[in-house]
Amino acid sequence: MSLSRDEFFASTERQGLALTFDDVRLATAQSKVSTREVDLTSYFSRNIKLGVPLVSAAMDTVTTADMAIAMAKLGGLGVLHAGLTPEQQAKEARRVKHELNAVIKDPITFSAELTLGDILSECDRRQLKFRTFPITDNDGRFVGLLTQNDFDFSLGNSALAVEAAMTPAHDVVTGTPDTNMHKAFAVMREHGKKTLPLLTEDGKVSALYVLSDVVRSLAGNPERHNLDDSGRLLVAAAVPTDEGALERIEAMGDYLDVIVVDSAQGDSYFAFQALRLIKDTYPDLDVVVGNISSSESAVALADAGADGIKVGQGPGSICTTRIETGIGSPQVSAVYECVQAIKGSGVPICADGGIVNRGDVSLAIAAGASSVMMGGQLAGTKEAPGEVTSHNGAMVKLYRGMGSASAMRDSEASRKRYGVDSSTSTPLPEGVESYVPYKGPVDDVVNQLIMALRKSMSYVGSPDIETHRTETRFLRVTNAGMAESRPHDVTVIQR
Ligand code: IMP
Repeated sequence: MSLSRDEFFASTERQGLALTFDDVRLATAQSKVSTREVDLTSYFSRNIKLGVPLVSAAMDTVTTADMAIAMAKLGGLGVLHAGLTPEQQAKEARRVKHELNAVIKDPITFSAELTLGDILSECDRRQLKFRTFPITDNDGRFVGLLTQNDFDFSLGNSALAVEAAMTPAHDVVTGTPDTNMHKAFAVMREHGKKTLPLLTEDGKVSALYVLSDVVRSLAGNPERHNLDDSGRLLVAAAVPTDEGALERIEAMGDYLDVIVVDSAQGDSYFAFQALRLIKDTYPDLDVVVGNISSSESAVALADAGADGIKVGQGPGSICTTRIETGIGSPQVSAVYECVQAIKGSGVPICADGGIVNRGDVSLAIAAGASSVMMGGQLAGTKEAPGEVTSHNGAMVKLYRGMGSASAMRDSEASRKRYGVDSSTSTPLPEGVESYVPYKGPVDDVVNQLIMALRKSMSYVGSPDIETHRTETRFLRVTNAGMAESRPHDVTVIQR
């Protein structure tokens, strides 16, 4: 018999039971929703939207720029791991933001007092391939626009003054700094312009849109891309629970959309301190804090101002925390409990870890999560950091826990995540190092996850994530039920 989510979990709680993915299934119901109609949009944190509720883990064998770019292009999000130095992490964040580059922030400008020849020699010196430059006066105010056409019409007259060649400001269509990519495209189309400088109130150039970049960005499957207001891919980054967090955020600057305060114990003095420090310094930046697995911790973090909470203590495929320490709640119950505890707060919960089968994504969301973070599912893909090697004749990549012995040896942030004092010479590992099969492009893996989620939601009749999160009915299954769920009594020759 299936029960509503709340009845189901109330009954398991009464029995003192905590359940995970293989303990439950979802009951089907009459469905009017086709897989294509299912709306997968959701939130990672209060203000960070997702086109699909899938996030790649902040691990050094899962997420650097390549993974973050691929995830955001598919509608999800990547969290750059904190094992990188602040400079390296900032470089990776910049790479993600420059991938589509629809808006050029702080574009190169030249003075109106120069000649075309001056500018051409500067272009040679700096090896600039483009020829579109806002022109400014001595106070840095916009006075005109110089484009390739102006160079062409000058017939090679390098002595021609820029002021004489450029289109003067009063004939240039401009926008304000908050103009997003879609608005920029509409304005350029309306006026037949290939360039749109954005000017501050005091007439300084803050950014520039160039039509070819905007078109490339809009045409490249834009309805799937997870973009910021300037048309750049969204990206998240993990930081440890110390003052180093601020240094990292400062280094990433405008190339960052959401920060993840990353600790194996998210309900700790250090995690709250980091949350407070970041919110006090960057009140407009969304901060997600994790990991936790109990209702009290969820309430405390939501009350302290977290914009998102990450749930999962011990479910990870490479994790040994529960075995080594005996703590942690099985993931489905942990997610439900935390979601229930902060119901109505508007703080989304991300279910982090333990996704083994594709159907687990749907189960995590049905338990109330707004998104799912994965390491093992995405490790071993082309975009995951690390080389493809051969192991026992199979192509593999390394996938390791951030609390594995080697990760803690290599990274201060890993030691910090697991609360290891730098003076400890032999820290207790809470994760393993493993090989996973090489899986090829991550697009294929994520597209299969998306299709599985669409199908699941169609089977139970959930048109969108909000409905799936709140109205799905659960069934408790036995080991025999799970055995029946898998292929059985046959020799599988293809999966
Ligand atoms: P997976 O998707 O099941 O492989 O789990 C990935 C998640 O495991 C990550 O997002 C982290 O929250 C968690 N994790 C990463 N490294 C470790 C570790 O060494 N020990 C415990 N948990 C870890």
